[in-house]
Amino acid sequence: MRGILVTGALGQIGSELVPALRERYGADLVVASDLRMSPSGSDQAEGPYAHVDCTDPSQILEVVRRHEIGTIYHLAALLSRVAEEKPQVAWTVNMGGLYNVLEVARQYDCAVFSPSSIGAFGPSTPRDQTPQVTIQRPTSMYGVTKVAGELLGDFYAARFGVDTRGLRLPGLISHIALPGGGTTDYAVDIFYQAIRYRHYSCFLRPDSCLDMMYMPDAIRAMITLMEADETSLTHRNAYNVAAMSFTPDRLAQEIQVHIPDFVIDYEVDPVRQAIADSWPRSLDDSAARTDWGWAPDYDLASMTADMIARLRGKLGGPN
Ligand code: NAD
Ligand code: SER
Repeated sequence: MRGILVTGALGQIGSELVPALRERYGADLVVASDLRMSPSGSDQAEGPYAHVDCTDPSQILEVVRRHEIGTIYHLAALLSRVAEEKPQVAWTVNMGGLYNVLEVARQYDCAVFSPSSIGAFGPSTPRDQTPQVTIQRPTSMYGVTKVAGELLGDFYAARFGVDTRGLRLPGLISHIALPGGGTTDYAVDIFYQAIRYRHYSCFLRPDSCLDMMYMPDAIRAMITLMEADETSLTHRNAYNVAAMSFTPDRLAQEIQVHIPDFVIDYEVDPVRQAIADSWPRSLDDSAARTDWGWAPDYDLASMTADMIARLRGKLGGPN
């Protein structure tokens, strides 16, 4: 088997995807890479690590050649809040990085996984049970790069035969690495603050309903999609996948089942609120279920119980 390269491997997803890939395929086969240097002693130090800036095509080429890479999980990107602050940088990293990865994949016959997002939809998209194929006119720079990235992946598959695949991931909730500056980050921050201080000030309104997923389901979805028989894929870039939809108010109620004196209040960030208001409340993921057997393991109650148990173990604090 040829090697697997993960770009942006030190981020929220990569911190859990790399160990999962190493467990499945062997540590030596999975090369973690990021713009940042790998912290020694981290999980990323359990196998090969390369410093790769995805905006520099020669750095991607060099690591793909040196490690005989056959599959690239391309995670390097700026998330929605950061992309809105720095739209020019977001275009360079999100589009330039993806273009560079696809060009190397074309030359070295690599398969490419590239995550899209609920951010690929916009205010004119139907917001409930958003269909697989629908209107995609996002108004954020993040969303623009996600739609363009989906189309570029399809183009490289149709024109050059590159095996590109992707998922429209919801907001991801996890306890290993902190999120990197997105609109759905509140759904992770809230757990840390609830355990530490029993209080959280939320930057979205209490009724902002968004699609969310627990990280173990997201990791399983990525690996399952990449292992699926290509002939069963009626869509490539990108499949809707869903697990749960909730508002901050509903999540706070669920946390109160475990921490009864937890209190939430609201200090709305207008930038992230505007982004959230343009995103779906729930996705129709029937194409993923039919084509490659997608089904989530975690719902709101089981995710919340697991997050609190694991973060109590990590942070200490009252039971
Ligand atoms: P993150 O911000 O946690 O991590 C991104 C990583 O990319 C960081 O470690 C950063 O150092 C690295 N990076 C930035 N610029 C780089 C460059 N030029 N070259 C190489 N590395 C660079 O992001 P994440 O949450 O792990 O997301 C990964 C991908 O998944 C992104 O495409 C994101 O849009 C997508 N996604 C994430 C979520 C989510 O909730 N986390 C949801 C939907 C889609
Ligand atoms: N969690 C991501 C963000 O908020 C969604 O793509 O940016």
